[in-house]
Amino acid sequence: MMILVSGGAGYIGSHTCLYLLEAGHSVIVADNLSNSSTEMLERVKEITGSDIPFFNVDVTDKDAVEDIFNKNQIDGVIHFAGFKAVGESVLKPLDYYYNNTVSTMVLAQACIKHKAERFVFSSSATVYGENKIPFSEDMKLMPATNPYGQTKVISEQILTDAAKANPDFSVALLRYFNPVGAHESGLIGEAPNGIPGNLMPYITQVAKGRLPKLRVFGNDYNTPDGTGVRDYIHVCDLALGHIAALSSIKKGVNVYNLGTGRGTSVMQLIKTFEEVNNVRIPYEIVGRRPGDIAEFYADARKAEIELKWTAKRSLADMCRDAWRFEKNYGA
Ligand code: WQD
Repeated sequence: MMILVSGGAGYIGSHTCLYLLEAGHSVIVADNLSNSSTEMLERVKEITGSDIPFFNVDVTDKDAVEDIFNKNQIDGVIHFAGFKAVGESVLKPLDYYYNNTVSTMVLAQACIKHKAERFVFSSSATVYGENKIPFSEDMKLMPATNPYGQTKVISEQILTDAAKANPDFSVALLRYFNPVGAHESGLIGEAPNGIPGNLMPYITQVAKGRLPKLRVFGNDYNTPDGTGVRDYIHVCDLALGHIAALSSIKKGVNVYNLGTGRGTSVMQLIKTFEEVNNVRIPYEIVGRRPGDIAEFYADARKAEIELKWTAKRSLADMCRDAWRFEKNYGA
């Protein structure tokens, strides 16, 4: 199939392009490079030996998206493009609501018009809000605790209603837990602009000496060691989940958690990273980060049963692969 990947130059997008190509699909990428560069796409081409036509396009731009669909016989879309920083979304809600929901509408309208009947959407576990754990797909969503999460709730609703009104338009809503790690080549990985907000890229930059020490945001949560617990999933497993969803997509709306079903605390991640990579991660316990919740992880059974997909890579793999990329990349 010919798949248009919006945000395909980004961290998860570039890994998904790699596995789409390895699965025999053709890939084209639309990305406005607001939080990425074409460097990762060049490296995906190097790894796979395949070409990736690239359109430097903001996918909220209806005419630009129409032009891509007019020039290519697109069979499906995987929509990653979007702003994704929780804290920033609180400061710039209108940018987030506009960018993340208008891009979803523009792409869905183009798919329906051009009969590209498969739409895979990059959603997030944040749509569950502070639900009981493990999070499962049949749960009632709770208002997200930030505008970023709310844009995912709204985008899911937009796509659900579009699928109801257009029987040939099939949708997969993939709710990510915490993607970390990098392709084993060490050529592509997570390269956030500026100081990382997420835990793993912060740890790898401390390990490399680019940052002095890790601040652990609170150790007074009601968890085994008091630090936050999350469901970390290797980005390669996550990317493969998209291939499985694309291949197995059924009519209507299909919702899947992409997680391991296991929770890991901040201290457990630090310890695993140090042991696997034989490095020290200096840290300091500081106050809780506003908006954080103590613990969440996935009920991962639905994707296993319906997509025949499970996350196979271990926490040690995630730590090893993240560190390899950090050592190879950038300054
Ligand atoms: C993980 C744990 C922190 C940084 C966010 C988004 C989510 C998704 C993934 C987009 C928490 C602790 C972190 C640090 C720390 N993004 N931490 N020191 O917040 O679970 O999820 O990123 O889809 O939507 O909400 O990920 O990596 O920021 O935090 O102690 O410097 O690490 O408190 O317990 P989070 P995270």
